Amino acid sequence: MQITSLTDGRVHLTVPGPRDVEAITVACRDPQITAWTTVPDPYARADALRFVGEIVPRGWAGAAPNWAIRTSPGGALLGVVGFLHHDRTAPEIGYWIAPDARGHGLATAAVHLACDFAFAADGLATARIEWRAFAGNTASAAVARHVGFRFEGTLRRGTIHRGVPRDTWIAGLLSDDPRVPAEGWPA
Ligand SMILES: CC(C)(COP(=O)(O)OP(=O)(O)OC[C@H]1O[C@@H](n2cnc3c(N)ncnc32)[C@H](O)[C@@H]1OP(=O)(O)O)[C@@H](O)C(=O)NCCC(=O)NCCS
Repeated sequence: MQITSLTDGRVHLTVPGPRDVEAITVACRDPQITAWTTVPDPYARADALRFVGEIVPRGWAGAAPNWAIRTSPGGALLGVVGFLHHDRTAPEIGYWIAPDARGHGLATAAVHLACDFAFAADGLATARIEWRAFAGNTASAAVARHVGFRFEGTLRRGTIHRGVPRDTWIAGLLSDDPRVPAEGWPA
C-alpha cells in the first residue's frame, strides 16, 4: 500500500517515525491507554522503537496502515490512528490520543479521515469497517458514534485482554452509511 498523508486542514495524519518515539513512549504509559488498548504493559521505549521501526512499515507493506495524529504536518505526535486487517472485508479501526490532547475533536477528525481513506484505497475496506472496544469505553464509543458507526451489540467475554476475558462492544461503518452521529449506542 502506498504511504499516504491525510488532512482535513486542521488535523494532519502522517506516518510515525523515529522522532515520535519519545511521545509514543510517554503516551502509551497513560493508564487509560493501558486499560482500553492492547499496547504492551509496562510500555518501554523499545516498544515504541519496534512500533515505528517494524509494525508501522510492515502494516503499510500489507493492509494495516497507521498514522500519527498531528495538528501541523511537522508537529508533535498527539495520537495514533490505524487499522488492523483481520480479513479483506472488514478492517478494524483503532486509535488513541495523548491525555493532554483529548477533548478537542482530534480522534473524531482522525477517524473520519482514516475511514475515508480506507473506503477509497484499493482493497483496504470494500464494504465495511469494524470498531471494537471493551464494554464501558464510552470515550471511544463517542468517537465512533460521531463518525457514523452503528452499534451492533456486545460480544460477551469477546476478547481476552491481559489474560482477562472482557465483554466487547462491536460497531460497523458501511461505505454508504451517513457520516452523522448514529442512534442506538449505549448511554
Ligand atoms: C477515546 C479517545 C481516543 C478520544 O479522544 P478525543 O480526542 O478526546 O476524542 P474527541 O475529542 O474527538 O471526542 C469525541 C467525543 O467523545 C467525547 N468524549 C471524549 N472523552 C470522553 C470520555 N472520557 N467520556 C465520554 N465521552 C468522551 C467528547 O466529548 C466528544 O463528544 P462531543 O463532541 O459530543 O462532546 C481518548 O479518550 C483515548 O485515547 N482514550 C484511551 C485509548 C482508547 O480508549 N482508545 C480506543 C480503544 S477502542
